[in-house]
Order: sequence, then structure tokens, then C-alpha cells
Amino acid sequence: MRDSKQLPRVAFLISGRGSNMMAIIKKVKEGKLKIKPAIVFSDNPGADGLKSAEKAGIPVSTFTPSDFPTREDYEKALVNTLKKNGTEWVVAAGYMRLLKKPVIEAFPGKILNIHPSLLPSFAGLNAQQQTIDAGVKITGCTVHFVDMGMDTGPIVMQTAVPVEETDTVESLSRKILHAEHDTYWRAIKKAVSGYQVRGRTVVFK
Ligand code: GRF
Repeated sequence: MRDSKQLPRVAFLISGRGSNMMAIIKKVKEGKLKIKPAIVFSDNPGADGLKSAEKAGIPVSTFTPSDFPTREDYEKALVNTLKKNGTEWVVAAGYMRLLKKPVIEAFPGKILNIHPSLLPSFAGLNAQQQTIDAGVKITGCTVHFVDMGMDTGPIVMQTAVPVEETDTVESLSRKILHAEHDTYWRAIKKAVSGYQVRGRTVVFK
């Protein structure tokens, strides 16, 4: 067993309200998820999630790609910020940018993301709209490892959500978000305990 000083140090990347991040932090505070939130980073200085993280006593940092000459410089600065805070795992939760090589190579196999659909269906933006447009009866959320593609990494955990005929993007988003809040912390718990990827399948220890 790791003592509290040795808990896996997790950085959160957010761009907006940060409700997934806060749902995870709640589980940490309840003692149900044994990680140490190391830092919350946002590419949006106005993100509401930054205020919530500060209130929860977690260090925060924010800067934007426009503060740097190139996108690569931005990502290198992000890696420096995360490493300076002892980050071992990266949890993207509503971070609205594709992660590129500098970050992906700095934390190999240790970056997670959550997406509001059952991947590989409806990757990319506006997943809930894509879901309604396709007329499917079941959707959900997916926690997956991050690779160089858009929502293409190996799948860690999924939760199904039924789609009703009366659902709108708003009502469906609410239901999926509710599922996300109960899925992400469980997925992190499994992932940090150790895993292998066989083919496309994530196998937990
Ligand atoms: C969630 O629906 C997540 O699946 C998507 O962005 C949204 C973030 O919400 N990637 P929040 O910022 O965690 O409230």
C-alpha cells in the first residue's frame, strides 16, 4: 500500500465548469479514490472550474496558447507546469483541445479523457447532437486513454444511458453528465491500479 505521500499525483485539465473534476475530487475527499489532486490547469482563465478547485484547496494554473509563439511552446510550458507539481497522471475533463505530442510523450499511458458518447460512436464535438441526429436508442459516456487521435485511445470504462424519443440535446447532456460523474472516478481508480492493453482491450490487474 502507498502511504498518503505516495498517492498517485493527478493533474486535471479543464476548459469550463469542471463538474467532472469536482465529482472526482468529492470522491477523493470521501476517501473512495486514493489519488492526490496535484494541480488543476485550464487553457481558459475564466473557467468556473478554476474557482471551484481553488475553493477545494487545489493549486491552479492557467495560460493560453496565445501566450506562446507556437502551439508546441504552449504544450511544452504545460508539461513543465504539470511536472513541476509532480504530476504522474493527467485527467482531461472538458478540456477543449486535442493534446499533442509534448504532453502525450511526457505521460505515456497515463492520460485519461471522458467523452459524452459510447465510443467509437460519435467522436469529436457535439456528441449529444450527433447522437440525436443518428436516432440511436442507447448512448452514454466513455473514459479512454488519450492517444494522438481524436477520442480514439483504448477504452477504460463505459456507462450506458437510454435515449428517449423526447430527449433534446440539453436533456440528454444532463443525463450523460450524471453518468459521467459516477463513471470517471471509478475509471481512474482502475487505471491507476495497473493495466495492460491487449490489442485494443484494456485489461486491469
Ligand atoms: C463533459 O460532457 C465531458 O464529457 C466533455 O465535456 C463536458 C465537460 O463538463 N468532454 P464539465 O466541465 O466536467 O462539467
